[in-house]
Amino acid sequence: MIKTIAVLTSGGDSPGMNAAIRSITRSAIARGIKVMGVRDGFLGLINNDVFEMERSDVSGIIVRGGTMLGSARVPGFTERAVQDLAIDTFKKNQIDAMIVIGGDGSYRGALALSKLGIKCMTIPGTIDNDIPGTEETIGFDTALNTAIEAIDKLRDTSSSHHRCSVVEVMGNRCGDLALYAGISTGAELVITPETGYDYEWTIKRLQELDQIRKKSHAIVVISEKLTDAEDLAKSISRKTSFAGRSTVLGYIQRGGSPTAKDRILATRMGDFAVTSLLDGKHAHAVGMIEGQLVSMSIEDTFKHKKKVKQDMFDLQKRLV
Ligand code: F6P
Repeated sequence: MIKTIAVLTSGGDSPGMNAAIRSITRSAIARGIKVMGVRDGFLGLINNDVFEMERSDVSGIIVRGGTMLGSARVPGFTERAVQDLAIDTFKKNQIDAMIVIGGDGSYRGALALSKLGIKCMTIPGTIDNDIPGTEETIGFDTALNTAIEAIDKLRDTSSSHHRCSVVEVMGNRCGDLALYAGISTGAELVITPETGYDYEWTIKRLQELDQIRKKSHAIVVISEKLTDAEDLAKSISRKTSFAGRSTVLGYIQRGGSPTAKDRILATRMGDFAVTSLLDGKHAHAVGMIEGQLVSMSIEDTFKHKKKVKQDMFDLQKRLV
């Protein structure tokens, strides 16, 4: 029988994590279950840094970005000795189950603990939208809107000065942020891990847009880690009549008040994770597919690859 649930946020934070914490806390308390907050992700488990959360502890946090619990990346959590420290924390505080909000690294931590007998559920919280088993992750929509707002502004000034803006967005091996931001802003080029980066092709395409299509400006949205945005901008200045300028949006995409979509997604997922645990599910990841809350085993999320959204990539190209 589950009497106490722990909640932690781990990995890169994302807007909406707080909404999920609030939902978990209040949903559990409403069912007579005690909730323990864990500070700084798996680090708090290792250090026994936990505290009881009351309804009032989560007041007002639904509107706030970041995570009130703090977050961390703990690469050492793969070691059994470190995991044993976490198990001690469960025992000391009589915690029966845990809900982990985070990305794939957090899922790995939760899976490791599940294998050691801890009942865990995971909730996808990352701006990258790179988690299989759900169509959307908490924070993606807010980060996307942040990126769109920035790119809209860059478009204004790029068009006044016959410039090509190279805008680097986050995404860590997943191009969804770049793709959706590119479509939403009418970007001329979208370069992601799925499309791959081809320098020659990129320059050739921009020369066409410049010389044949006589575009007044161009926007290139590129996922992080594919190339150096500033180097590409400099090449564009040399090889086309556009003046190339680079903007790396960086961590600005991780902050800010969550959008309505993220608040609702997080709220629904948080409550669903509690319900699922009480229904006897564990080692499962929560997802949202076609508007329905679902769950699949955490292990299966690692086996599934996210489908490349080829139709969306084709659409973006058709509309330039
Ligand atoms: O996973 C979320 C994310 O923001 C990625 O988009 C990015 O590559 C990474 O985290 C940055 O991580 P850190 O906060 O550790 O620098």
